[in-house]
Amino acid sequence: MNIKRFTLGKLLNNTYIVSDRKTNECMVIDPTVDTLVYVNYIRENDLDLKYIVLTHNHHDHIGGVKIIKEHFADCDICIHKNDYKGLLDPKLNYSEDIKIKADVILKTNQYLTLGSLNFKVLNTKGHTKGSISLYEENKKVIFTGDALFIDDIGRWDLASGSKNDSIETMKNIFDKLEDDIKVYPGHENIGTMKDVRIQNEWFLKIINDEV
Ligand SMILES: [Fe+2]
Repeated sequence: MNIKRFTLGKLLNNTYIVSDRKTNECMVIDPTVDTLVYVNYIRENDLDLKYIVLTHNHHDHIGGVKIIKEHFADCDICIHKNDYKGLLDPKLNYSEDIKIKADVILKTNQYLTLGSLNFKVLNTKGHTKGSISLYEENKKVIFTGDALFIDDIGRWDLASGSKNDSIETMKNIFDKLEDDIKVYPGHENIGTMKDVRIQNEWFLKIINDEV
């Protein structure tokens, strides 16, 4: 597995291009800005783009979808069913005019496959109802979008966000992950679940029932 990170945009979002070394199949996770950078990387590395996966519908995670789809018409734009409508609605995705129709509606706990890699779609709701994390158990990596950062968690006060959902997600999903799982969040630094358990005050407050 190869993971390329681009940190771009006003909110310094992380976009990841994840590829399988044997088949060259790849996916783009959360393309932030309208730029050819992602397209060029895919071409230069001779990758076969299968999916554009959106961890949730917010504007800063979806600004590059259109330009990628224009260059790779066969790839599938994928989003969880609970964020599908928000992708079509600028009021819900907090953009001026972004309206994207997804090709694939993801279901909770289904798998997305790239060659030998299998990413489980976890519904890590709380930041939005359809927020997902992509978990590759064998490789011990998880892409968390805005559900979990290394030293913070995603806000729950935006459209379809929920404090209770976030609490459920921290306790029932993220706290079940072992210390050596590598966490690739939608903003800020990459780390491990061990780092989260040391640095992340909100995560600790929630799992200790202090929220
Ligand atoms: Fe967000």
